[in-house]
Amino acid sequence: PRSNVVVTPVTLRAAFEGAFLIGAALNAAQFSGRDTVGATLVRAQFNTTTSENVLKWQAVHPLPGTYDFAAADRYVAFGERNGMFIVGHTLVWHKQTPSWVFQDSSGRPVSRDTLLVRLRDHIHTVVGRYRGRIRGWDVVNEALNEDGTLRPTPWLQIIGEDYIAQAFRFAHEADPDAELYYNDYSLENAPKRSGALDLVRRLRNEGVPIAAVGLQGHDRMDWPTPAQQDSTVAAFAALGVHVMITELDIDVLPPDLNPYPDSLPDSMQQALAQRYAALFAVYLRHADAITRVTFWGVSDGSSWLNNWPVRGRTNYPLLFDRLHRKKPAFEAVVGVAQQAAAR
Ligand code: XIL
Repeated sequence: PRSNVVVTPVTLRAAFEGAFLIGAALNAAQFSGRDTVGATLVRAQFNTTTSENVLKWQAVHPLPGTYDFAAADRYVAFGERNGMFIVGHTLVWHKQTPSWVFQDSSGRPVSRDTLLVRLRDHIHTVVGRYRGRIRGWDVVNEALNEDGTLRPTPWLQIIGEDYIAQAFRFAHEADPDAELYYNDYSLENAPKRSGALDLVRRLRNEGVPIAAVGLQGHDRMDWPTPAQQDSTVAAFAALGVHVMITELDIDVLPPDLNPYPDSLPDSMQQALAQRYAALFAVYLRHADAITRVTFWGVSDGSSWLNNWPVRGRTNYPLLFDRLHRKKPAFEAVVGVAQQAAAR
């Protein structure tokens, strides 16, 4: 609608109000008071947070019978102080999970029953501790191979295919009001997407309480195409689950090289802005289905992409630079939201 009053949303959370929640993954730096500028930025820009590492199995349950909630408690307290929709990441994964989980005291694989007991104990303890406070959980992370079949993790090999459904049931028992998600990457690629669609259909047919599929969104400058992103969101939405972009970042570096150790050339900066604008245009077209978009980090300096897949590079994947300043990509993303709101 036309109006004389031009309101310029200066924050992401204001720009996407009414469309979807907008968030960032946090690490101790932001929620333990070490990075106060980053924390201020989080409070101003975002209305949802995800735990980047502190709720992973190895962090919270490092030894048999030993839970350590010190960092996770600070994460949740930060979210509550600042009115965030708090997301927990993640309950079942093949990484950042200690090997004792799958072994008996002599190092041999445990039985299905033993592993199910351990899984239930872990999920009941962790989800139960934050019942009513952590509002959504990435219950199972990265269970699929590129070809859409189930990844041969110890979870699958020891428990069998129903480990996914069991994890969702345990989480639902521990907090019946929490939203439960399946989260994975590269679901924009056809074979993996079709495996994930089958998985979600099976879970829904079995009455498993899955609220949403998380598309991680570890994107590149040329992947996924906006058309791939569009059809992927549409395909999951058609199953009746919500869709979330859960770990958004855009890797601007060529494989194995570190061409921009000091700063990103302006042409690349503009290309990144256009790339972000194209992706957010897709997300906004699907605002009925997409309920949350979360960046995997706050500012470029603390992004995991500085150390993955190659350690010690200088990457530029987010909307805020190493001094927590808005990048052209920030303005581009806000611009897309303003255009959509003006229509
Ligand atoms: C990454 C964190 O960002 C790093 O700090 C950590 O060292 C490794 O894990 N997919 C996921 C996330 O689901 O948990 C990963 O997070 C990134 C890929």
